[in-house]
Amino acid sequence: MKTVIERMSDGIEEDGIRRAGEILRAGGLVAFPTETVYGLGANALDEEAAGKIYAAKGRPSDNPLIVHIADWDAIGRIAKEIPPEAKLLADAFWPGPLTMILKKSEEVPYATTGGLDTVAVRLPNHAVARALIRAGGGYVAAPSANTSGRPSPTKAEHVVEDMDGVIDMIIDGGDVEIGIESTIVDLTDGTPTILRPGYINQEMLGRVLGAVEVDRALSFEGANLRPKAPGMKYRHYAPKAQLFIVQGPQRQVRERINALAKENAAAGRSTGVIGTDESQAFYTNALVKSIGSRQDEGSIARHLFSILREFDDSEVNVIYSEAFDTPQMGQAIMNRLIKAAGHQIISVQDT
Ligand code: TXA
Ligand code: MG
Repeated sequence: MKTVIERMSDGIEEDGIRRAGEILRAGGLVAFPTETVYGLGANALDEEAAGKIYAAKGRPSDNPLIVHIADWDAIGRIAKEIPPEAKLLADAFWPGPLTMILKKSEEVPYATTGGLDTVAVRLPNHAVARALIRAGGGYVAAPSANTSGRPSPTKAEHVVEDMDGVIDMIIDGGDVEIGIESTIVDLTDGTPTILRPGYINQEMLGRVLGAVEVDRALSFEGANLRPKAPGMKYRHYAPKAQLFIVQGPQRQVRERINALAKENAAAGRSTGVIGTDESQAFYTNALVKSIGSRQDEGSIARHLFSILREFDDSEVNVIYSEAFDTPQMGQAIMNRLIKAAGHQIISVQDT
């Protein structure tokens, strides 16, 4: 298949949106930018179209898709009931990086929800995404536009790497703004529960809803529990090299990473390091990449997935990453990094 690339990094291009909308209405696949990561879109109400997403990504069929809408009123057609919390959250955070789980209506095919009676709904804050959703009929199922298991795409080049020749169109909207997938909140089962942390954190949700829980499977102690979001159980984001997170006081972390890099060099293994603007000059015997500045957590979130992809293009055998427990997005950043590392964490103590 020939994949058409439409450039819209400077904003909406009407003709391209019309062509993309026609592809979606005809049951095809279009990758598009959102404020979080790039999505791989299909008509969410068309069983066959939604099915194509799983094939293109190599995604297990029990892993449900998020339905993207462009207007609040569209929610009525896909949700069986709309709890008051949904309206409160929409008023506070939509359009934006928040996904709500609701009971699904009969119009949403099980192919879209991975066989569940619930549906994930998101209204993204990206002009190109919303124009595309409207042009495509109003309901676009879209997982992140990566091959299953790879880091989510934060620029069009990442989508091209994974999807060129596999889907009908890629809309290039430049680099995304946030870089980490949306926060997912379940509103179908008692107290609202965070199933996946994101830019909108527990405290921000709590200010709107009062009580908000976090799925216990996301915590350190819950590592063996089955997560409520099916996708959270899969190994994800893993780079080709072995990745370890080294956590503890900053000076000790740097010293431990340098000691490990030296050992690796002696054993003929090459080392990669994920550091920050502040720490990168300190490392030796390694290919060092800065993920961003500790003064600007947004920069860390934005570069996380692209730095993991960059290491795949290098020859390193082992990667050590600092931990990034930043104030707002720390939980989301560490959730993704810990998955990428397959839970391999080295803790160093204050000495
Ligand atoms: O930021 C985002 O959410 C991006 C952009 C494209 O919008 N999309 C995204 O989709 O991250 P995906 O498919 O990569 O992740 C969706 C997650 C998966 O972990 C899936 O299991 C979960 O949402 N999910 C979807 N529907 C669900 C449901 N009905 N109940 C529980 N979890 C659900
Ligand atoms: Mg994904």
